[in-house]
Amino acid sequence: MCGIVAYYGPDQAYDFLIKGLQRLEYRGYDSAGIALLNGDLRIYKNKGKVSELENVAQGQNLSGTRGIGHTRWATHGEPNTVNAHPHLSQSGDIALIHNGIIENYDTLKKVLIERGHEFKSDTDTEVLTHLIEEIKEQENVDLLEAVRLALNEVVGAYAIVILSKNDPNTLIAARKGSPLVVGISDREGEFYLASDATPIVEYTKTVTYLNDNEIVAIQDGKMTIKTIDNVSKSPFIQELEISLDALEKGGYEHFMLKEIFEQPKSIYDSMRGRFDPQNLTFAMRSLEEYASKIKNLDRIIIVACGTSWHAGLVGEYLIEEFGRIPVEVEYASEFRYRNPIITEDDLVIAISQSGETADTLAALELAKEKGATIYGICNVVGSSIPRLTHAGAYTHAGPEIGVASTKSFTAQVTVLTLLALGIADIRGKISRERLREMFAELDTIPQKVEELLQSCNEKCKEIAAAYVDAPNCLYLGRGYNFPVALEGALKLKEISYIHAEGYPAAEMKHGPIALIDEEMPVVVIATKRNYYEKVLSNIQEVKARKGKIIAIVTEGDEKVAEIADHYIEIPDTEDCLTPILATIPLQLLSYYIAVMRGCNVDQPRNLAKSVTVE
Ligand code: M6R
Repeated sequence: MCGIVAYYGPDQAYDFLIKGLQRLEYRGYDSAGIALLNGDLRIYKNKGKVSELENVAQGQNLSGTRGIGHTRWATHGEPNTVNAHPHLSQSGDIALIHNGIIENYDTLKKVLIERGHEFKSDTDTEVLTHLIEEIKEQENVDLLEAVRLALNEVVGAYAIVILSKNDPNTLIAARKGSPLVVGISDREGEFYLASDATPIVEYTKTVTYLNDNEIVAIQDGKMTIKTIDNVSKSPFIQELEISLDALEKGGYEHFMLKEIFEQPKSIYDSMRGRFDPQNLTFAMRSLEEYASKIKNLDRIIIVACGTSWHAGLVGEYLIEEFGRIPVEVEYASEFRYRNPIITEDDLVIAISQSGETADTLAALELAKEKGATIYGICNVVGSSIPRLTHAGAYTHAGPEIGVASTKSFTAQVTVLTLLALGIADIRGKISRERLREMFAELDTIPQKVEELLQSCNEKCKEIAAAYVDAPNCLYLGRGYNFPVALEGALKLKEISYIHAEGYPAAEMKHGPIALIDEEMPVVVIATKRNYYEKVLSNIQEVKARKGKIIAIVTEGDEKVAEIADHYIEIPDTEDCLTPILATIPLQLLSYYIAVMRGCNVDQPRNLAKSVTVE
């Protein structure tokens, strides 16, 4: 978490920094701050959002052609102004911003205190600023070398940018475990740095992504890159494909609503060109390259967190149904710490919208060390996970700014569907006829999502109004709809702060049924193709205890519609494609409830979009 930006060039840095921080605010919004260098080094920072920082900066001297900015998701030290970045060194000459965690900060801090350093904040970051200055003075080296030596003493994860009053023509940045992109302007000597490309795209499309353990130095208008072991590196320069429109709200009240309504396109883009319904073939390079591995697989392990983990559960059902390979779905955070059995024969699939989730990244590193083949399903191009994997397929959902994952979930399920069918095809587990049916149905999904959005939007608003004050909510589903129930519950709790739980519908009688009374809304996904009668019985069980039923049903359903308190129809589709459709009204329901409760849906409390700490 935390977002960082920096500017080095001929123009004034302030506007780029503020705009950039606004774009990165999804990464954390506990505090924001900037440092500007123009002979003197000035810092403005404040608890709260970037807009509050702007208020603080108003009327101040904002000149400076070098600048750094930070938006924080607090880890060490409470979210207040003192703990806001940038942090200064002992003399106040060096300013530093940081995304990540310095794990050995306590040990380093004790040594520095013994040497007379005084700290103002409770952060791990301030220690690094002091350490760099201490090394610079003790070793009598330049700033770049001091940063390099300091990073050799640091344990943990970081993306950092450093400015020094005594080196006005130098800006230094480094990364290990947290992302950092350098934008290279057409104008000589102008550079933009950021945690991701969104602040940069408006200014230049030419970028280089820093690798772990690399330090970039911009000195006298020239960029050089070296490793922390002092080995020079040539930057790998690439062109960004993001459009500026994708980063704006486009007339919607919130990014989340925009992203929900973008799903017909994001789903289409995630499947476009990847299969040929006429010739019944796939065009996914990863499938071609790894065909022989896939043929001989005994097991697949999926690792992910949060919503991506829910997509992974859908993936498990898909791959087991079509590919007939056992699949295990693991929370990345648990997997990495429990000495899992991984062999060279395993295929480990990581699912992540951001491609930066620390736990997922660490789980992958572990699996890779043990020799497994690593496959990534990520949304952010050039992020850390795709750079670590052997193969993968991007979801082409476009930038997702709202902290709640919406279009990334349906895009992940789309890609997983193609992957499952591709695996089945390679292993000879699917007939031509069935593949034809699946391709034909997949083709209809974007249009069905479009129709569903139009038909259910108002209804979701009405139902939301009836439950806006509910303190709790249960979500039930079976089979493919069980992960949908989990996802529905997560969406509600994270943006509306209503306590919600998802369960396999049949598990209700093993405990949660005790919670049901006339106050309890129960969202049941009760679509026609599978387990219909069984889910109907579960609904009766809830009704018998006076619970309120909000049912997601297949178009034309009469039985459930008759007994439910509210129902929302979704188009009929293959059972395995139901999650893509059934999730949509649940996203809208959560969205409207949260809006009606006055919650900040795009930036819910305590959360950040990109979770780069363990
Ligand atoms: O970027 P990732 O997909 O790896 O993120 C994983 C979770 O942090 C994420 O899905 C989170 O649960 C969502 N924001 C929930 O909507």
